[in-house]
Amino acid sequence: MRRKLVAGNWKMHGRQAANEALIGGLRAGERDFGDVDVWVAPPAVYVGQIAGLVEDGAIGVLGQNAAAVDDGAFTGEVSAAMLADMGCCAVLVGHSERRSLFGESDAVVAEKFGRIQAAGLVPVLCVGETLAEREAGQTEGVVLRQLLAVVERFGVLSLRSAVVAYEPVWAIGTGLTAEPDQAQQVHEVIRAEVSSRDAVVASDLRILYGGSVKAANASALFAMPDIDGALVGGASLKVDEFVAIIRSAGEGSVR
Ligand code: PGA
Repeated sequence: MRRKLVAGNWKMHGRQAANEALIGGLRAGERDFGDVDVWVAPPAVYVGQIAGLVEDGAIGVLGQNAAAVDDGAFTGEVSAAMLADMGCCAVLVGHSERRSLFGESDAVVAEKFGRIQAAGLVPVLCVGETLAEREAGQTEGVVLRQLLAVVERFGVLSLRSAVVAYEPVWAIGTGLTAEPDQAQQVHEVIRAEVSSRDAVVASDLRILYGGSVKAANASALFAMPDIDGALVGGASLKVDEFVAIIRSAGEGSVR
């Protein structure tokens, strides 16, 4: 049985006062989260603040990025172990903005995935195709290449304590969302690939959808059999929208 997970990716947004107001608003609705796990991903510099604000509650703190190296002489980097020390339970890895804007290759993403798990945290591995790749019929190939870069390095059992997020790049921050059945198709491909290696790991693996998820489209996405929650960017900065998405996940049946 897979518990739904709704994670908010704040990206490079926030200030202490705004963060406090956002968390305050979320916590006011916390009792209604039901069977849904809720994580928020603040910028690294605010992880400690957010961890302090949620420590007696139900919200988990997610890092947005971790270094591909352990602690050492790497000016400006933040290690997975530091994120763990500050109260994170999980870290995003391979987000398309990291891949495209910061040049993170599949190999770097895999390296980071390993460091995150070694620090005792859950990697949320983001995969997804660009519009050009979709139009060229390469969606499946791209997504599986990104997934297998991790699976072939660490083995399928590494996915027992990981989450996968399918985020078509063309749907991120654009207002364009994949149609529920379009997203479902890719989620199914991911689960089938994992299942061909280990059926139990596949059936327990949470696969989130991300890309312009909002209150208005969340229910239809969550109704899909292989969509186990959402990675939400823009709408996670608006309390009412984010809470409405969480509620939709709660209504969308626990399988
Ligand atoms: P979006 O971002 O919801 O603003 O499209 C999703 C993400 O990048 O994780």
